[in-house]
Amino acid sequence: MNQEASALSPSDERLVVHFINTLNMTIEQLAIPPAFNHIPVLSREIIAGLTIAAGGHYLDATVGGGGHSQLILAAADDVKLTAIDQDEQAIAATKIKLGEYSDRINFWHGNFANYNPGDQLFDGIIADLGVSSVHLDSPERGFSFRHEAELDMRMNRHQPLTAAEIINHWEEVKLAEIFFKYGEERLSRRMARQIVQQRPFQTTTELAEAISRCVPVKYRYGRIHPATRVFQALRIAVNQELTSLETFLNRVPHWLKPGGKVAIISFHSLEDRPVKHFFRDSPLLHVLTKKPITAQPDELAHNPRSRSAKLRIAARCI
Ligand SMILES: C[S@@+](CC[C@H](N)C(=O)[O-])C[C@H]1O[C@@H](n2cnc3c(N)ncnc32)[C@H](O)[C@@H]1O
Repeated sequence: MNQEASALSPSDERLVVHFINTLNMTIEQLAIPPAFNHIPVLSREIIAGLTIAAGGHYLDATVGGGGHSQLILAAADDVKLTAIDQDEQAIAATKIKLGEYSDRINFWHGNFANYNPGDQLFDGIIADLGVSSVHLDSPERGFSFRHEAELDMRMNRHQPLTAAEIINHWEEVKLAEIFFKYGEERLSRRMARQIVQQRPFQTTTELAEAISRCVPVKYRYGRIHPATRVFQALRIAVNQELTSLETFLNRVPHWLKPGGKVAIISFHSLEDRPVKHFFRDSPLLHVLTKKPITAQPDELAHNPRSRSAKLRIAARCI
């Protein structure tokens, strides 16, 4: 069909726009998930590192948009996959995306620290830690100060603890502690004092502006926004990311078959350090990556998120 023949008249165009608008509303009302657009990092490296075997059963503890899961399922014949995420929206979107594999995937909604595989042992387990691009790019989730939104930051929207609860109700000393511990923020005490004096805060942007106002000018116009570390700290506290990781690391070697591999991608030293130490100290594991694997120049060029990604792999030896 040539372009002229397919061109719409202005009134037809209005009708189409009206139809799309109506459809969008209906999609929201039906709670059908939006596309979960997340580019998986270190894909080549994680798939090569796992050495996927035909008929094997793998666990993706952080399925997110299903990018890594899809590659695992496609890597060999008759691969089975158990896919976990604590975000229901990620599970719903990925169920649709990986529909062609539905007879080989089993989804589990919840925190990977609370997962119990029973007698099932896996040939390989992966975890790609932290939030997905969809969390950061969805204003209503409240993860980013780039958008004005309620202070939320929950990956699992069924849990009661939100960023607003922490910011508006926790004691000053506790706020300073999480900013320092989870954000490695040098000005943690000053920021906590100002927040307590000025609260309540309702939105991400109000909080970011208050933090920006209370720091020295040099800091205000530095390489990163002055609220970046506080937002990281809040996200880690809301989702109890480090305690979940610790529990997961303690359990994961017992979920592997002998020779099975565990591969973990982390994005900051607070995550990478426990992974490195745990792999090294576990009597059940043999470390396969003395140094963490990082992104190659071609990946760095098209996915900036891969800049801080570190992949460590270990195998169960007994
Ligand atoms: C970086 S994304 C994963 C992206 C995925 N590998 C892909 O290719 O699309 C991390 C995902 O893990 C989930 N997540 C983070 N911590 C979790 C935890 N403790 N338990 C379960 N899911 C978790 C988040 O909700 C998010 O969807």
